[in-house]
Amino acid sequence: MRGMNWILCGRERLEAIRSIFNEAILNSTALYDYEPRSVAVMEAWFAAKEAAGLPVIGLENAMGELMGFASYGPFRAFPAYKYTVEHSVYVDGRFRGRGLGRMLLERVVEAAEVAGNKTMIGVIDAENAASIALHERLGFVRCGEIRHAGFKFGRWLDLVFYQRVLKGPESPVDG
Ligand SMILES: CC(C)(COP(=O)(O)OP(=O)(O)OC[C@H]1O[C@@H](n2cnc3c(N)ncnc32)[C@H](O)[C@@H]1OP(=O)(O)O)[C@@H](O)C(=O)NCCC(=O)NCCS
Repeated sequence: MRGMNWILCGRERLEAIRSIFNEAILNSTALYDYEPRSVAVMEAWFAAKEAAGLPVIGLENAMGELMGFASYGPFRAFPAYKYTVEHSVYVDGRFRGRGLGRMLLERVVEAAEVAGNKTMIGVIDAENAASIALHERLGFVRCGEIRHAGFKFGRWLDLVFYQRVLKGPESPVDG
């Protein structure tokens, strides 16, 4: 797409990110939140990314609008998970189905690999056909399922896990 730019999202993008998240919260099971995220919740989300040095990678169009973003963070808080990350990828509804999700996911996989991580996990609602297709296209392999993991819109939700093994650190160490 002409006039599209890669950006590293800073605080000034938080409202655009919040609006993409909140559309998905209200209209889909992509996120297991019931309520739209507040400004304060988003500020805490971004502060955690900043403190950990984790990038929020974005794509903007020629008008400067954020079309989508991707990021990654810890999978579970226990120390020995330190080389495993969970990522997220979101494209604004107006720009889906044009290859942007694929570009963002490729870019965030690369960032996580360069940072020395070994395993990348996508945690996806089982109804999310677009996300499942995207992950399978990029070599993520289904590695588990939790049935009835969530309850939203009056029904039980199943969760599927996808993983991609990365190069990992040259000399992994305990501790
Ligand atoms: C999932 C999401 C990021 C995909 O982004 P996108 O820009 O629409 O996807 P792309 O156009 O890059 O498509 C990637 C691949 O998935 C496939 N795909 C996309 N949407 C699809 C759909 N609804 N059903 C089946 N396959 C689909 C495409 O065909 C494409 O495969 P190809 O490269 O072989 O043609 C986007 O739909 C989204 O933001 N959804 C809401 C938030 C969300 O669910 N995030 C993921 C949470 S786990």
